[in-house]
Amino acid sequence: MSPPHKPKQKRGLWSSRFGFIMASAGSAVGLGNIWKFPYVTGMHGGGAFVLFYLFCIFVVGIPLMLGEMVIGRHTHRNPVGAFNSLRGGPWTAVGWLGVISGFVILSYYSVVAGWAVNYLWLALQGTFSSQHASKVPELFAGLLSSDLGQLFWQSVFMASVIGIVLGGVSKGLERANKVMMPILFLILVFLAGYGVLSPGGPTALRFLFYPEWSKLDAQSMLEALGHALFSLSLGMGAMLTYGSYADEKTNLPTAAFTVSFMDTCVALLAGIAIFPIVFTYGMQPAGGPGLVFKTLPIVFSRMPAGSMFAVLFFLLLVFAALTSAISLLEVVVSYYCDEQKWSRNKATLVIGFLIFLLGVPSALSNNLLKDFHVIGDRNFLDSIDFLASNYLLPLGGLLITVFTGWVITTRVAKSEIEKGAVRFHFYPVWHFLIKYVSPVLVAIVFLHTIGLF
Ligand code: PHE
Repeated sequence: MSPPHKPKQKRGLWSSRFGFIMASAGSAVGLGNIWKFPYVTGMHGGGAFVLFYLFCIFVVGIPLMLGEMVIGRHTHRNPVGAFNSLRGGPWTAVGWLGVISGFVILSYYSVVAGWAVNYLWLALQGTFSSQHASKVPELFAGLLSSDLGQLFWQSVFMASVIGIVLGGVSKGLERANKVMMPILFLILVFLAGYGVLSPGGPTALRFLFYPEWSKLDAQSMLEALGHALFSLSLGMGAMLTYGSYADEKTNLPTAAFTVSFMDTCVALLAGIAIFPIVFTYGMQPAGGPGLVFKTLPIVFSRMPAGSMFAVLFFLLLVFAALTSAISLLEVVVSYYCDEQKWSRNKATLVIGFLIFLLGVPSALSNNLLKDFHVIGDRNFLDSIDFLASNYLLPLGGLLITVFTGWVITTRVAKSEIEKGAVRFHFYPVWHFLIKYVSPVLVAIVFLHTIGLF
C-alpha cells in the first residue's frame, strides 16, 4: 500500500479535541434524532424496531464511526482523496458515493429544516400559547400546502448553511456548539420527564421499549440499520471528513464512542418526549413525517411558560439541523477544495446553490407535486430520503467497513488509533466487528431488501 500523499493545500484542524467531539456530535445529532427517529419508530411498530436500532448502533455504528475517523485522520483528505490515496482504483468510487450522498441528503434535509425554522418563527410570535392551542393541528398542514412558504424557509435555511461554511468551520461555531448542545440535551430531558408523567407515559414507554418481534420484518430492519447510519452521519464520509481535521493526539476511540452515545441518548429522549403526547391525545404513532411538528406544540400550548419553551426548543432544533447540514455541505466542499483546487468561497457558493436547486422538488412535494409519487406511494421528499437512508448509506457503510476491515492493513489501523499514546484495549473487538460482523450484517439486510435473496 502506498503511503498517503500529503495534501497540497493547507487544511484546517479543530482548535481543540473537545471541539472535534462537539462538532462530530453536532453532525450526528440533528433532525435524524428529533424529527426522524420518533416517526420511523412509530411507523415500524415501536419496541422491536428500537432494540434492533440499538443493536445496529453497537455492532455497525460505533465500529464504522471509528473506521471513518481512522481513514480520515490517516489521510487528512476528503472522502474521494482519502480512498484514492489509500488504495485508488475502484475504491475511489466509495468516496464519490459519499460526495453524492452529501449532495442528495442535504437537498431534502434543508426542506425539513425549513419547517423547523418556520416553527421557530411561529413560536417567536407566541403561536403556541394557550389561546391558540386549537390551531396547532392545522398549522402543519397549512405549512406543507404552501409552495412559496416551503421554498422561502428552505432558502432561509440553505443561506445560513452556506454563510457558515463560507467562513470555514469557524471557532464561533465550535464555541456555539459547546453551549447549545448541552442546553438542547437539558430541554429534552425536561420534555421527556414531562412526557413520562403525563397520562400516556406508561403506554408510550411500553410502545418504545417492549419488543413485539412479529412487527420486525426485513423492511423494518433495513430501515433501522439505515437510520442508525443516517443518525450517526455514517456511510458517506462525513465522519471521515471531520476526522481528517483531527490532530494526531486525538483519542479516536473515545471520540467515536462519546459521539455515538450522545446521539443515541438524544434520539431516545426525543422518543420519550413525543410518544406520551401521541398516546395522551389519541394520535396515530404511525403518523408519518409530521409527527414532531404535530405533537410537541400541543404540550407547549398547555404548559406554564410554554411559549418560552417553544422558542427555545425550535431554536435548538434549528441549531441541531444547522450543525448537521454544515457537515453534509462540508463533505462536498472539501472534495472540490482539495481535489479540484476550487477556492472555499467558490465551492461553497456553487455547490450550495446546486443543492438548493435539487431541493426544490422536495419543497414542492407536499403541494404542487403532491400527486407525483416516485417510490411506492411516497412523494418526492420521502422517496429521496428513503433512497438515501436505505440504499446510499447502507451501500456506502458496507463498502467502508469492508475497506477498513479487509483493505487497509491491521498495522495501519492500529498505529493510527494508537497515535498520541492512546491505549485501545478493545482493539481486537473492534477489529473483529468491523471485519466480520458489521459487513455481514449490512450485506444481509441490504441484499435481502433489494430482493437478491
Ligand atoms: N446525522 C444527521 C442527523 O441525524 C444527518 C446526517 C447524515 C448528517 C449524514 C451528516 C451525514 O440529522
